[in-house]
Amino acid sequence: MNKFNVGVIGCGNISGIHMDALSALPDVTLYAVCDIDESKAAKAAEKYNCKYYTDYREMLKDSSIDSIHICTPHYLHAPMAIDSMLAGKHVLCEKPIAITSEDAQEMIRVSGETGKKLEICFQNRYNATSVKIKEILDSGSAGRILGAKAFVTWKRDKDYYASGAWRGTWEQEGGGVLINQSIHTLDLLQWFLGDVDKIKGNADTRLLGDYIEVEDTAEATIVFKNGATGLFYATNCYATDSPVEIEIFCEKAVLKLSDGLNVTYKDGRTEHITEADTKTGGKAYWGSGHAALIKDFYRRLGTGEDMPIDGFQALTSLKMIEAVYKSTKTREYVKF
Ligand SMILES: NC(=O)c1ccc[n+]([C@@H]2O[C@H](COP(=O)([O-])OP(=O)(O)OC[C@H]3O[C@@H](n4cnc5c(N)ncnc54)[C@H](O)[C@@H]3O)[C@@H](O)[C@H]2O)c1
Repeated sequence: MNKFNVGVIGCGNISGIHMDALSALPDVTLYAVCDIDESKAAKAAEKYNCKYYTDYREMLKDSSIDSIHICTPHYLHAPMAIDSMLAGKHVLCEKPIAITSEDAQEMIRVSGETGKKLEICFQNRYNATSVKIKEILDSGSAGRILGAKAFVTWKRDKDYYASGAWRGTWEQEGGGVLINQSIHTLDLLQWFLGDVDKIKGNADTRLLGDYIEVEDTAEATIVFKNGATGLFYATNCYATDSPVEIEIFCEKAVLKLSDGLNVTYKDGRTEHITEADTKTGGKAYWGSGHAALIKDFYRRLGTGEDMPIDGFQALTSLKMIEAVYKSTKTREYVKF
């Protein structure tokens, strides 16, 4: 059986979910962690009984490391992923793939050139409800998809934005509610509905302008190549973190995702799937698919299979976001 030694860059909020998931896998060793904040790196190294570094380039020199997880602020994803692949490591990078599609294209190019796998962490695709939606839509049992609507209404306040200097900035976060919070839902929409034809949207800063320079609220009309229309709304200005709501309206069924998935077929049949079925950890409103995604990443590294959420897959949600920013300025549809 293949054994993989893993290095994790970034020991902040999300990193514990990666480290716990890695520690639970029999064929994987959490070998080293890295953070520019030495106290965070040392704390994680003590907890997971591994080495630590404060300079990721030093960590990349260690030839016994097979793969790198990137859990750092958005603007660092592209340079860190590229450096890792050039150093001969496979990469599992947190979302978004990068803050510009040019950077993302370069990551894809380097992955192709080096033959190193690149996977982006859109773990919500592994939720029991997402898997079921995809299965129903792909099987044809719901008929043609006619439209979809999606709502992401979460709460991010002054304290959240004060928790990291990179947050709320164009230069380091690359955007607001679109690129950080609701990118998961944009990824799901394009995964469920297929290729995007054109997008027109609006991004605005409604309530959080005292703390951030990026958008806290956005909406978009997404026209898919199959003719279906997607209506999308996202905000960080709500009073709480509500479950993401997605409805997909098809010829023969309506699929409604909120706290769970309800499918109502025209012939009267109904199905209900609860997310608790996944039995994995994580904050409920983020989705709890990290452990499943990470397990699948190493299974595929072992077999040599392609990664399901590679650079090309992850580029689409970034392009959708860039289209919303562009059409906010031009008031025109952005064609894909
Ligand atoms: N998939 C999800 O649902 C999900 C949820 C939360 C966060 N995330 C993503 O995870 C990433 C990190 O988010 P977070 O909330 O953990 O941020 P965070 O600010 O809590 O942690 C980032 C860490 O990176 C470290 N860091 C910064 N520059 C570094 C460098 N040059 N070398 C090494 N370490 C460096 C910081 O010191 C910090 O500890 C982001 O891409 C975010 O969007 C994903």
